Amino acid sequence: MSKNSRKVKIAVIGGSGFEKFFDGIRQMRVGTPYGFPPPLILSRIGEKDIVFLPRHGLNHSTPPHRVNYRANIHGLHSIGVERIIAINAVGAINPNFKPGDLVMPHDFADFTKLRPATFHDEAPVKHIDVTQPYCPEIRRLMSKISKDNGIPLWDTAILVCTEGPRFETAAEIEMFRRLGFDIVGMSGVPEVVLARELGICYASLCFVTNMAAGMQERLTPSEVVEISKQVTPKVRQILIDTIVALPLERTGKCPCASAPEYAGFK
Ligand code: HPA
Repeated sequence: MSKNSRKVKIAVIGGSGFEKFFDGIRQMRVGTPYGFPPPLILSRIGEKDIVFLPRHGLNHSTPPHRVNYRANIHGLHSIGVERIIAINAVGAINPNFKPGDLVMPHDFADFTKLRPATFHDEAPVKHIDVTQPYCPEIRRLMSKISKDNGIPLWDTAILVCTEGPRFETAAEIEMFRRLGFDIVGMSGVPEVVLARELGICYASLCFVTNMAAGMQERLTPSEVVEISKQVTPKVRQILIDTIVALPLERTGKCPCASAPEYAGFK
């Protein structure tokens, strides 16, 4: 919590290459019933306290299939976070998208296999609504901010999340292309779902690091790191301006905050 105990309502979760994205005012550890998230980095943007969570740990030591997504989201919720903007590296399946492009998904398809993916593991039975999994209000604002800054951003896309840590085969990507998916990553799900289960608004700003398997000769993690470096300034600009423009209180017009109320049986 920040010095005077104001709640930190906005979090940024950063992925590959963004481990040290914000200058931290200080680090904080929080415990959860699911274990410890990586150190949270408290920072300030304009008048707002924010917290940065390095998804893969400060030294990028946790692979995407082993990230403790429940601890991360529970930890952020426990310090008062109501909105999350996630940064994700993705491969492009849609041939119109190119390495270096920014993409904001509006929906996802889950092809993960092994991850604990819910807080609703026991009674009472709950089913969370994810008809619109990404917060439409944050998405609208980020889209406007990118336009205002003259930074191109694809603002609708379907993200398919795979288990990893291997990249996909060319056959898998061809299947995903036929199914109409636009981008592929390993870390977007269940993060987005867990946020919704706790009523947190969540949007993802993805950057394309490569054309997906079969669309370029080979895939290497070095590309991911290289492109991350290149896109950092525009990602940072969009994030900062979006955070500054976000109203302090949520309007209640998006489906996010009220979703948990409707998840149980009446
Ligand atoms: N596949 C899965 N995850 C990724 C990719 C990819 O091609 N590029 C960056 N993250």
